[in-house]
Amino acid sequence: MAHILLRDRDIPDIWQFDTYVANGGYDGLKKAVQDHVPAEVIQIVLESNLRGRGGAGFPAGRKWSFIPQDAERKYVVVNADESEPGTFKDRQLLEKNPHQVIEGAMIAAYAIQATAVYIYCRGEFWDLAHALEERIDEARRANLVGDNVLGSGWSCDIHVHLGAGAYICGEESALLNSLQGLLGQPRVRPPFPAQKGGGLYYEPTVVNNVETLANVPWILVNGAEAYKEIGTPQSPGPKIFCVSGHVEKPGNYELPLGATFRELIFDHAGGIPNGKQLKGILPSGASGPVLPATDDVLDSPMTYETVAELGSTLGSASFILMDEDTDMVWAAAKMIHFFKHESCGKCTPCREGTYWLERIYDRILRGEGTPRDLELLESVPNQMQGLTLCALGEFAANPVLSTVKHFRDEYERYVGISPASQPTDVPEVAEPVAAV
Ligand SMILES: Cc1cc2nc3c(=O)[nH]c(=O)nc-3n(C[C@H](O)[C@H](O)[C@H](O)COP(=O)(O)O)c2cc1C
Ligand code: SF4
Repeated sequence: MAHILLRDRDIPDIWQFDTYVANGGYDGLKKAVQDHVPAEVIQIVLESNLRGRGGAGFPAGRKWSFIPQDAERKYVVVNADESEPGTFKDRQLLEKNPHQVIEGAMIAAYAIQATAVYIYCRGEFWDLAHALEERIDEARRANLVGDNVLGSGWSCDIHVHLGAGAYICGEESALLNSLQGLLGQPRVRPPFPAQKGGGLYYEPTVVNNVETLANVPWILVNGAEAYKEIGTPQSPGPKIFCVSGHVEKPGNYELPLGATFRELIFDHAGGIPNGKQLKGILPSGASGPVLPATDDVLDSPMTYETVAELGSTLGSASFILMDEDTDMVWAAAKMIHFFKHESCGKCTPCREGTYWLERIYDRILRGEGTPRDLELLESVPNQMQGLTLCALGEFAANPVLSTVKHFRDEYERYVGISPASQPTDVPEVAEPVAAV
């Protein structure tokens, strides 16, 4: 089947304006602006049940419908921060099929009658951001962006902004602060970005992921019903799965939501190198719980709801694969190091929790861990989950709790518990538990 998102796989020069237009590019925007009033565009996207591809899977049309129509200033912000470990799909879209993202953003902007669009790129994307400016210029010259778009009387320009390389600036409210020139830390909600007081410059704002918006032109051209024929009823449409780690053919794969883990990993990505067994799967980069590679998991469809039922999250669908030789304690320690480094420090459970978790892991990996440390690895994350200002605190708890649950024997070996003879009465150690 022809790709809907990774169209560069079928048409290598699709990044060029003329090639994009010759292959139906900007027909979705033309259809939106010339055939529909804004409310109808929202309705079409609502009916398609397109779910946000940035992590939470929130329906895009519903998000757009929250924007108050009478607000004088409204914005669309494209989240191109792409910082989740193992995620590299937005980069490919922006590099190889940029006009589709620009078109999707303009359709969203028309739907909410936005006054401007901002594309927030992670700092490392500086070369990509400059190329994007040129692509936007091409669209501007064709009257698809800027003043009086397609003669409709509606004007909306696009601006590209570079972040400075902080994971937390992918979180939408921290992103908005960063865009405003403030410290990149999450805001207290409500008000939410769609509400007055909660968005960019405190005006109602839609924040959508790059991939979410790249779906929109196809929906406008082909209709919501055709879109729902791809994927499953609750998780419709195509999805880009990023595959990395211990795998023969790492890369981006566009498949319908609902394809199985096995199809992705073995049929498309070529399986595990050197005849090794697959041991663990991180379906959403470092931020979601790790899943053991059991037959039940491998035969499950990859949808927002089924991955949640399995005990993890589909998130941005960044699949990091770990083979039988992977030390899961070491892997969890790496992720905790990442989250501790990226915690913005605004709220105590996340700032302190990640700090103490890192210390516990360091101790365990040095061979100085005790059974008490294993207890702490269960209690500290439980004091973070549900108690933090943004989801980073939740994310940090996930690798710890999930590896302790599924690979407990590896921890027990580190802390000197023989799995066959677990002590029922764990001795107290001198560690300052109260401080944790
Ligand atoms: C710590 C953290 C990092 C995030 N990083 C990203 C990111 O890099 N890209 C992204 O699109 N969403 C990211 N998100 C999710 C955004 O907050 C937001 O939900 C998303 O951009 C909404 O777009 P969507 O509805 O199209 O998915 C992150 C969330 C958190 C809590
Ligand atoms: S959970 Fe962590 S990253 Fe999020 S606001 Fe609190 S300290 Fe900052």
